[in-house]
Amino acid sequence: MDEEQLNKLFSNGILVDSSIKDLEIADLDSIITSLKEKKITFLDLDTFHNIYSGEAYSDSSIEIIKSYDGELSESKPINWVNYFNDRFSRIKNMLMLKDKSGLMSLSNIKNMPQSSEVKTIAMVSSVSISPVKKYMILDIDDNTGTYKTIISDQNHEILEDQVISISGRKYNDAIFSKNIGFPDIQIKDKVTQEIDDSFILFLSDIHVGSKLFVGDAFERFIKWINGEIPEYSSIAKLVKFIVLNGDLIDGIGVYPNQEKELDIKDLKGQYSKLYEYLGRIPKNIKILISPGNHDATHIAEPQPKLDHNFADSLYKLKNATFLSNPYQVNLCVGKSKTNLLAYHGFSITYYANKIPKYSKMDPDDIENIMKIMLKSRHLAPSHGSTQILPLPKDYLVIDETPDIFATGHIHKTLVSTYKGTILVNSSCWQRQTSYQKKYGMVPDIAKVPIVNIRDKSFQILDFLGDKVQIYKKGIKEV
Ligand SMILES: [Fe+2]
Repeated sequence: MDEEQLNKLFSNGILVDSSIKDLEIADLDSIITSLKEKKITFLDLDTFHNIYSGEAYSDSSIEIIKSYDGELSESKPINWVNYFNDRFSRIKNMLMLKDKSGLMSLSNIKNMPQSSEVKTIAMVSSVSISPVKKYMILDIDDNTGTYKTIISDQNHEILEDQVISISGRKYNDAIFSKNIGFPDIQIKDKVTQEIDDSFILFLSDIHVGSKLFVGDAFERFIKWINGEIPEYSSIAKLVKFIVLNGDLIDGIGVYPNQEKELDIKDLKGQYSKLYEYLGRIPKNIKILISPGNHDATHIAEPQPKLDHNFADSLYKLKNATFLSNPYQVNLCVGKSKTNLLAYHGFSITYYANKIPKYSKMDPDDIENIMKIMLKSRHLAPSHGSTQILPLPKDYLVIDETPDIFATGHIHKTLVSTYKGTILVNSSCWQRQTSYQKKYGMVPDIAKVPIVNIRDKSFQILDFLGDKVQIYKKGIKEV
């Protein structure tokens, strides 16, 4: 706070505590107005934070659409059969909503005469390329049997265990496909809500407890959200939600020799340290907390919300909602509802390894992999792309088209759109690990994607340097 600002406070009859003098207050006039309205004549740090957060709107709430409640299941064959049947029937229904005329089961197709026109919905059990003519050959199955499909157009990105529709001509015990259909998401029209600017921030992969955690940058973020940093403070005071999308802590024993890179060597201590930061976030901001593969819960997905035994300190946060990985919610402000699908993103690395053109894992590659998930209406379509808990209901099926689809895990950042749905990958708060160095992965550190609920505009702020600034890379126009 400079001398001019101090004099302005004095001349308005407000005395100032020494704790306030080092703050940079972006909008002093509105603070003075609030102090006068509340007849406060002494400004200390607590009063400043109360007034600052009190100025933001608090007409926000969270409606939970889908969050796994923690039921367990054994890896028995019958459980896997039920799990895949549930997935198949739910995604099949999505495809049937688009077109259900003339559909046949695979057993019916087997009985059709040669050269018949046929149409079916099936799960892909294997994908191969014929060595001579470079056709794509799919083994497919449904509840009635198995069959083969030949596709001459290799441009399709078809993955194992995807559920697709196929139409074509039966010939020599195979379908020669003319058309392949994916369940895909519905197009979301761009609608401007009749509310004031209201922001959602996306954080993930904080990795508290790691020696490589960028505590100085995270401290800068906490100060910014409290209005103590002038750059873009107009955004900070209108934040309604913070989405904390997994890997809150570095965990213990997640990878070989991890203990050498740990600052805090117990899980409770790591979560307590995180609480010291999150406890300072203004209480009018709702924080959505879900686990990732470094958190203290089982790694198989869906992962339940954080375990009280380890993360008890975080459960003291009155403004936090604890959710599973993945989850789907409506973020409500006034009469507006923003449908958010959040997934930590473990399967992204599988597809980056499986599909050579996405192997660099730069933001464009991650964006394309996120599109594959939406197109498949599944967060980990191929068996083996993540560890799965075979529950009677497949929580990784994308039942509803989200307004925002958020992931993390890759330590890169992007915001983009696909068919009107906003795609967000939040960055990380950890410098390059030895593991990342070995594989040439350079993380995007301390970047915060921000979406405005009002008009679905977005940007990414950078908290790594001394000043908070706009991070250009990865931003695309809606
Ligand atoms: Fe992760």
